[in-house]
Amino acid sequence: MGVMTAIRERRSVRKYTEQPVEKEKLDLVLEAARLSPSASNRQDWKFIVIQDKEMIAKMVGACNNQGFVGQAPVILVACATNPGGIMSCGQPRDSVDLSIATAYMILAAHDLGLGTCWLGSFNEAKVKELLKIPAGIRVVAITPLGYAATKPRPTNRKDIEDITCYEQYS
Ligand SMILES: Cc1cc2nc3c(=O)[nH]c(=O)nc-3n(C[C@H](O)[C@H](O)[C@H](O)COP(=O)(O)O)c2cc1C
Repeated sequence: MGVMTAIRERRSVRKYTEQPVEKEKLDLVLEAARLSPSASNRQDWKFIVIQDKEMIAKMVGACNNQGFVGQAPVILVACATNPGGIMSCGQPRDSVDLSIATAYMILAAHDLGLGTCWLGSFNEAKVKELLKIPAGIRVVAITPLGYAATKPRPTNRKDIEDITCYEQYS
């Protein structure tokens, strides 16, 4: 599958089957994160793979009771290991880096026939407690990973004319 096809087709999956994720596929999704770009190539990140059913069930509460999180056979947790850095453009390095890595993972997952759903709605303190994440580490993004139980509906996007301009802001 080409990159543009993956971008066009990917949808957030909020219903998962119990089918396990093959180790080779999981490894490829993680490889997509490993190869993603980061500011100054610092790669200040750690990706936690949760496969334990009991822990997955506990993660539902930490993800503000989003029940579908508990259906997936895998949950990926993207952590910034050296948070707090601000780039000269004023943007935080950690959330930008981890967001790129998560975007790469969700596209790679789609290419492999797997579903994901980026989660920004979670209680970071609860996630850190559950997963024994040290105090200095930030959790930037979480996604379930698994096979979609239903095909998600297409979602709308703004028209290209509404979100682009040329030469100067207008
Ligand atoms: C930063 C971010 C946070 C999100 N948080 C959640 C979330 O907590 N729960 C959820 O169900 N979807 C979440 N989403 C998914 C969006 O709702 C979804 O991407 C958007 O509606 C477009 O739909 P699509 O992904 O199917 O194209 C999040 C997406 C992003 C990028």
